[in-house]
Formats: sequence, C-alpha cells, structure tokens
Amino acid sequence: MTAVDTVIRHSLHSEVPLINQVSEYIIHSGGKRLRPALVLLSANLFQGVQATHHQLAAIVEFIHTATLLHDDVVDESDLRRGKSTANHVFGNAASVLVGDFLYSRAFQMMVTLQNMRVMEILAEATNTISEGEVLQLLNVRKVDVTEEAYLKVIHFKTAKLFEAATRLGAVMSQANPQQEQGLAAYGMHLGTAFQLIDDVLDLSGDPAQIGKKLGNDLAEGKPTLPLLYAIQHGSQSEAALIKEAITQGDLAQLDAVLSALASTGALEYVRNVARGEAMKACEAIASFAQHPHHQALVDLADFAVTRQY
Ligand code: IPE
Ligand code: IPE
Ligand code: MG
Ligand code: MG
Repeated sequence: MTAVDTVIRHSLHSEVPLINQVSEYIIHSGGKRLRPALVLLSANLFQGVQATHHQLAAIVEFIHTATLLHDDVVDESDLRRGKSTANHVFGNAASVLVGDFLYSRAFQMMVTLQNMRVMEILAEATNTISEGEVLQLLNVRKVDVTEEAYLKVIHFKTAKLFEAATRLGAVMSQANPQQEQGLAAYGMHLGTAFQLIDDVLDLSGDPAQIGKKLGNDLAEGKPTLPLLYAIQHGSQSEAALIKEAITQGDLAQLDAVLSALASTGALEYVRNVARGEAMKACEAIASFAQHPHHQALVDLADFAVTRQY
C-alpha cells in the first residue's frame, strides 16, 4: 500500500496549480484505501503483487476519488473524512472539473498498461457507477421504491467498483476464468454489504468516526433500505412520518424517524441483509480456502459488516 501511495503521489501532477491543490486535498485526506487494497489482496492469491498491480490499485483509487468529488457536489455534502469537502472549500465548479481530471488521468494510466481486458473492466465499471448515481437521482424523494430497485442502485454506484478491483487483481495475475469469476462475485457482494452498512451508519453512526454528518441520506430525500423497511413494517403513523421526511428531504423529525427505525428493527434488518451479502462474498472465494492469503479477504468481509467508520 505504501508503493500504491507512491504511484498515487507521482501520478497526480498537473501543470495547473488548482488541479494539484484540489486533488491533493482530497487524495491525502485519509480515505480507507479499501478498493486498492482489494486489488493487491486478490493478486496475493496468485503469484503475488507486482508493479502493474500498484498501478491498477492507484487507478481504482483515482476513479473512487473522482466519484466522491462529484458525489459531494450532487449530495451538497460539506463534510467527508472528518474534513470540509472539496466543494465546500473550493466550490462546485472546481470539484466537478478536478473530478473529470482524475477520471481522465486514471484512463491515461490504464492505457499505458496496454491490456484490453483491463480497459474493458474499468470502462464498464466507471460507466455503471454513473448509471447508478443517475438511477438514484430518479428515486430521490420517492417513498415507493422497492428493495430490488434500491439494491440495483447500490450494485451500480458502489459494488461495481469493488467488483472491478477484485476482478482486476485476478486478471492481472493470469487467473483462470473460474477464479476470476469467484473474485468478481466476492467484490460485488462485499461492495453491496459495504453500502448497506454505509446506509445504516448514516442513521446510527458516530459522526466523529464516520467523518460525515448523520442523516445525510434523509436530508437528500434518499430512500435507503432502513427507511424503506420501516415504512413497510412500522405503524401507520410511523410510515407517514418517514414518508413525509423523505418527500420533504429534511431532518426536522430525525429523532422521531430514529425511534421508528428502532421500534421496527429496521437497522438490524439491514445489518442482516449485509451479513448475508458478506457470507455470499466468502462463499464465492471458498475455493481459495487453503491459500495463506485467503483469510485477509474473509476478514475484510467481516469488516464491511462490523465497521464503525
Ligand atoms: C465512500 O466510500 C463512498 C461509499 C461507497 C459509501 P469509502 O467509505 O470507501 O470512502 P473512503 O475512501 O474510505 O473515504
Ligand atoms: C456513494 O454514494 C457512492 C459513490 C460515491 C458513487 P453516497 O452518497 O451513498 O456515499 P457518501 O455517504 O456520500 O459517502
Ligand atoms: Mg454522498
Ligand atoms: Mg450520493
């Protein structure tokens, strides 16, 4: 991961000062570096990590960072990683444009690897993330979104990049098709669990630990699974309260919404769905069980569910 950070540092440079300022601000603000770690951990199941894996890991983190720059503009968020967001410090225009810089820098780096499969995987993942974000936009302030429609959004906006990270680790290590498929499925399920818990933490986390404000999703009118479950399983007045909060997109009734989540067991329900996804992730890589590096991936699946940040 130190080598990945070196690649990241060397690859950020632009002759335009504002680009360096904004990109360094967000890249060095202390993300978990989960997606690049997945590239390396997947590669560890084969011949081990090589320089090309460091490149790929940095590329994946650049794409992730670009999505965050754009996402915080769209979501009008002012806090991430415990710091003011780039849009809050530098403005929306700078955030969107530097997000574009990071996407296109990632594509410049990926072309140098001269591997058509790698380009195919990353182009598809990036495109799918955009589809996920737009799909989510279409659901804003809607209270009749199905669990299936919600899951599609999180598969697209979040899990797809996890899938790309683990698949790339396999592809860059000459894995056979079954091994590649297993790791891709692991990434997809892991990413799904990760976003499910993100949506739980948005309503129940410790702001100091998650580094974001509580109730962001509700404030944006985002019908996340905990809210949808409580609408379905709460009393008439609880359902009405949550529907009102989503359609208004405001936090005035946050305490009452949290009580409704507690009385319906909504957060526990979503944690259980996440646990199921983490189990499926582990099943997908069961064929690597004898490998000394297998446990790290199992531990990561556990972290996706138990994490507090
Ligand atoms: C944030 O991802 C966006 C989501 C998919 C929820 P992370 O929680 O991995 O972000 P950082 O990079 O660690 O800040
Ligand atoms: C995460 O979006 C997925 C992407 C950034 C594409 P969210 O809006 O759910 O995540 P946070 O809460 O801002 O990290
Ligand atoms: Mg957001
Ligand atoms: Mg968002």
